[in-house]
Amino acid sequence: MKRILITGGAGFIGSHVVRLFVKKYADYQIINLDKLTYAGNLLNLTDIELYPNYKFIKGDITDADFISEIFQLEKPDAVIHLAAESHVDRSISNPMEFVMTNVIGTVNLLNAAKTLWKGNYGQNRFYHVSTDEVYGALGDEGMFTENTSYDPHSPYSASKASSDHFVRAYHDTYGLDVVISNCSNNYGSHHFPEKLIPLAINNIKNNKPVPVYGKGENIRDWLWVEDHARAIDAIFHGAASGDTYNIGGHNEWKNIDLIQLLCKIMDRKLGRESGESAQLITYVTDRAGHDLRYAIDSKKLQENLGWVPSLQFEEGLEKTVDWYLDNENWLQDVTSGNYQTYYKQQYEYNEQ
Ligand code: NAD
Ligand code: TYD
Repeated sequence: MKRILITGGAGFIGSHVVRLFVKKYADYQIINLDKLTYAGNLLNLTDIELYPNYKFIKGDITDADFISEIFQLEKPDAVIHLAAESHVDRSISNPMEFVMTNVIGTVNLLNAAKTLWKGNYGQNRFYHVSTDEVYGALGDEGMFTENTSYDPHSPYSASKASSDHFVRAYHDTYGLDVVISNCSNNYGSHHFPEKLIPLAINNIKNNKPVPVYGKGENIRDWLWVEDHARAIDAIFHGAASGDTYNIGGHNEWKNIDLIQLLCKIMDRKLGRESGESAQLITYVTDRAGHDLRYAIDSKKLQENLGWVPSLQFEEGLEKTVDWYLDNENWLQDVTSGNYQTYYKQQYEYNEQ
């Protein structure tokens, strides 16, 4: 039985990857290691938590001794590493947390893997999940390919770029079998409502202002989270050692156009007059260092591994809205407590 350690499996993307692997590979033991920060939630995994091939371990990847003990105890054959601090706005107010988790945490995992797998590097894979934000910002033209130079601008993307470099260095220096994928913005269920789409859904539902940074002209390339999980599956099993894949859905949206579409869907779902939700759109101070445009060229993934996105954006967005409207308890759970403090600090609104 293959033993796969998935880090950050209680987060947004990690929970979809864990679910896919647990259900699809009954002959794999999936070990989910997660610190359960504000962004990690075991409610994301209630449907698979009793599967015999699933196990959860609470722990912090910044703790080198703990990580090395876990590796000795669990003896994973492979790692799929998703644990990270993931929100750009939080990285602007607290960069060191991003250095600790995203850089130091990744190096701790690499060291533990290097020690456990010594002499067997060919049989064991370290898969590092990264972001397209490491490539920086595009102008009106062009797309990120696997050969685009790194040019990160936010503390978040700088920390992810640094972790990518460490992962490649462990391949080049020690011969560790590593794979990296860089994916565009994800959307779908279980997405923490600090990111644009779930935050907007939650605010529209509660008749609160929908904050759009600057003029809303920044462009993101949105991918259905389950398509990202499918891509990770394909790359984990099919990529050559040391290889990199870009993942994206050829689905670019200006923020304001996306929010307008979301408002239309919400009007329909909530039985509101057409145009009612759009009145909540509020332009707020732009994010510092706000990257203008991301767009991914995923030709290599499509051609080498036969992966294609499964959903059109409008359909995915509609499914996402349905999930949030049907899962009021989840939303209430994650927006209680610290979320309120974060929200006030970030947007400086005086919510009642
Ligand atoms: P998330 O913030 O929803 O989840 C991160 C998970 O990591 C949480 O469960 C959290 O508890 C856990 N974690 C954080 N610090 C930890 C620590 N010190 N030790 C152990 N666990 C810890 O993030 P996400 O959106 O699911 O992103 C997952 C990965 O995918 C990240 O590496 C991110 O950089 C990358 N990524 C995200 C996107 C996106 O659109 N969200 C796009 C491309 C790549
Ligand atoms: P986000 O979901 O934070 O993802 P990322 O910054 O990693 O791309 O933001 C997506 C886009 O939406 C980005 O251009 C910033 C913008 N944005 C807003 O306009 N308002 C908001 O309240 C948030 C959170 C993001």
